Amino acid sequence: MKRLSVLAALLIRYAATAEAADAVHGREIYESRCIGCHSPDANRVGPMHRGVFGRKAGSQAGYTYSKALKASDIVWGDATLDKWLTNPQAFVPGQKMNFKVAKPEDRADLIAYLKTLK
Ligand code: HEC
Repeated sequence: MKRLSVLAALLIRYAATAEAADAVHGREIYESRCIGCHSPDANRVGPMHRGVFGRKAGSQAGYTYSKALKASDIVWGDATLDKWLTNPQAFVPGQKMNFKVAKPEDRADLIAYLKTLK
């Protein structure tokens, strides 16, 4: 019996980690797919990302946003970032980021990584 409950505890722990968003994996995705246009600390084709979690959309100084994103009333949090990465054009018509992330787990990991950019 004792062995079984240890096994059960291990399985539960494994399931919990497998579900939790993974910022390390998020960073890998960022560095392969986002880095062509973004960087944590410099405005490039897209705006820099340090501090983006919790910031108002379209408000990074020194970057020229689309009118649509600038005028939006979005604040970047878990739900808004997930919608944006799923389909920016559907979320904010007239925006100018031409990129989507199809897999929900990849979006969750990316958001976990963006949160670390304080
Ligand atoms: C092809 C270039 C390109 C790629 C690739 C790209 N982006 Fe963007 N991103 C942009 C542009 C351009 C904007 C500005 C949109 C606007 O002003 O309408 C933007 C804006 C954003 C914003 C809003 C930031 C703010 O300050 O309001 C977030 C968040 C974002 N991108 C995340 C990502 C992530 C995460 C990835 C990788 C999965 C990614 N982007 C990939 C071009 C890109």
